[in-house]
Amino acid sequence: MQPLASNGYSVFFDNDFAQLSDFLQKGDYSKVFFLTDTNTSVHCLPLINEALPWLTNFDIIEIDAGEENKNIDYCIGIWKMLLDFGADRKSLLINVGGGVVTDIGGFAAATFKRGIRFINIPTSLLAQVDASIGGKTGIDISNIKNIVGTFSTPDAVFISDVFLASLDRRQLVSGFAEIIKHGLIADEAYYKEIQSCGPEAAGSAIIRRSVEIKNEVVTQDPHESGLRKILNFGHTVGHAIEAFFLDRKGKSLLHGEALAAGMICEAYLSYKHHTLSHEDLSQLSAYLFSVYGSISLLPEYEHVMLDYMKNDKKNVNGQTGFSLLKRVGACDYNQYLNDEQILESFAYYKQTASAMKIAGSKS
Ligand SMILES: NC(=O)c1ccc[n+]([C@@H]2O[C@H](COP(=O)([O-])OP(=O)(O)OC[C@H]3O[C@@H](n4cnc5c(N)ncnc54)[C@H](O)[C@@H]3O)[C@@H](O)[C@H]2O)c1
Ligand SMILES: [Zn+2]
Repeated sequence: MQPLASNGYSVFFDNDFAQLSDFLQKGDYSKVFFLTDTNTSVHCLPLINEALPWLTNFDIIEIDAGEENKNIDYCIGIWKMLLDFGADRKSLLINVGGGVVTDIGGFAAATFKRGIRFINIPTSLLAQVDASIGGKTGIDISNIKNIVGTFSTPDAVFISDVFLASLDRRQLVSGFAEIIKHGLIADEAYYKEIQSCGPEAAGSAIIRRSVEIKNEVVTQDPHESGLRKILNFGHTVGHAIEAFFLDRKGKSLLHGEALAAGMICEAYLSYKHHTLSHEDLSQLSAYLFSVYGSISLLPEYEHVMLDYMKNDKKNVNGQTGFSLLKRVGACDYNQYLNDEQILESFAYYKQTASAMKIAGSKS
């Protein structure tokens, strides 16, 4: 498969790591560092190292797996290890992991000695179709996600679907929500195709189309001044649901699970306040409920979730900014709605879930 060109770097589809090997051999890197987490060091790094028998001058930096570790303390740990291992301005950091590793690794590299080069080798479905592409790096501070970060592009991204064999099924299905989102915002035929294959069959061709869609958007608008906002479809409500459940200990949802609920609510808003047809709303709600089940959105939760949305960067004059579907396959950004309108979308979510008899199957 031909690589895709992004903002000054290429995204390679490289199941056997031959292109990675070639790229590293041609590079002028003084030393290579792999950043992994406790899962990817076991399941993913050995596959890469096996394919690079010639690479001997490297060190491994491992962080504990989990979003709670995408923080400044772990970042300091990475900086210190780079120092201890003698990293210089010509060193390369290779991030091998899900979005946590590519985000914190990209951030650590972008800031160490005012910036060393890095490569992303995303190993979760979510990181392959989303987090590793587009040049956003970052860490969380006290549960505020990605509040400190940079726009910094990697030297390259290498995507291999062999990693997905060891990924937990719940993580795989969660990542698939971003693929569904890409179809909904940009490509109706692709949206139809992914429904017939399902999360388990998301191989190279499906992943590539998703990366193409994200890449087309971010290359046109790298700093999110306009068009890039369409990638936030489902995320205004989705992030509020995710944050709410994160704060209720023991009830946390994966990002894609919250996003699926957010897409149903925002599809309703797209029907009520934009131009999505009722038929498309019904179809996509039924599909998302069938894959993701439903979340209990109790009335007492709703105002708390509205409060989370108040902090959203896209808000203007007290109204919440949304990206809404024009139709399946097309999306408009900068659509502003008030609390009452948002609450109606929660009511739609609950009514539809109960009509489908799948209420409260999650959380
Ligand atoms: N920078 C961006 O543009 C962007 C976009 C979307 C998401 N993100 C970020 O991505 C993060 C979420 O990414 P994620 O869902 O990949 O989470 P993650 O990195 O926590 O990975 C999920 C889990 O899967 C494990 N894992 C990853 N690959 C594996 C494999 N091949 N085999 C076995 N286990 C594996 C990880 O160790 C982890 O336990 C969030 O922090 C989010 O903010 C960033
Ligand atoms: Zn997302």
